[in-house]
Amino acid sequence: MPGGQTLKVAILGTTGSGKSTLAAEIIQERDRVLVLDTMGDYDELPGAIVCEGAEECISQLLDLQYKKHWILVCLTLEIQEGLDILAVGFDIPDITIVVDECSMYCNPHFLPEEFARLIRYSRKRNIDLIFLARRPSEVHREVTAQANLLVTFIQYEPIDIVYLRSRMGPKAERAKSLKQYAILVHSDKYIMENRVPLAILKRMEEEKDLTEEEEPE
Ligand SMILES: Nc1ncnc2c1ncn2[C@@H]1O[C@H](COP(=O)(O)OP(=O)(O)OP(=O)(O)O)[C@@H](O)[C@H]1O
Ligand SMILES: [Mg+2]
Repeated sequence: MPGGQTLKVAILGTTGSGKSTLAAEIIQERDRVLVLDTMGDYDELPGAIVCEGAEECISQLLDLQYKKHWILVCLTLEIQEGLDILAVGFDIPDITIVVDECSMYCNPHFLPEEFARLIRYSRKRNIDLIFLARRPSEVHREVTAQANLLVTFIQYEPIDIVYLRSRMGPKAERAKSLKQYAILVHSDKYIMENRVPLAILKRMEEEKDLTEEEEPE
């Protein structure tokens, strides 16, 4: 159903493959961004407001909700704190929510209500979602199944390639041999033409250039 589709991005890839770095680039293109950060990967983003713990993060979020441009990085160590922040974020329209380390909050057998609601109803609030996880098999299926933009860095495990193949078809095999920091991207035509973040488009373009340069050899 094209027209007004919100973005649901899953950024996947093994440890150190470059997920958070790519997410940081995407965040800087956006206007109103809530980031759940467990590792302190985003606290040096230019212009970001960094908060710790649910109480402080929620109070900042409520202060920022009518402002035009902000990046709020919430450092959360407790799972419930992150979920409480997500529950408040769900009520704020026209924002982007980034969840790094998605596997902190869900697993293949468990998807907390706060998380499920975001995935199912983000469109009603015009909320774009960006979820980061190492492997598709470590998060709840709904997280990956609802993603309309799949981005993966290198993947080694057969079970993950099987999943990617179910979404992307045969090109998923390329995920096994991607070069360092290279990505494989999949989405439908509407998302590809209208909603892909510039940082991803730029990398796709650079990687195409590399392939083209390598071909004549
Ligand atoms: N495109 C890139 N070019 C050069 N260096 C990069 C690039 N992307 C990431 N790096 C570097 O690689 C390291 C790992 O990147 P990053 O933290 O983004 O990986 P990650 O996939 O988020 O890892 P983790 O699963 O541990 O969270 C960092 O030191 C980062 O600076
Ligand atoms: Mg990371």
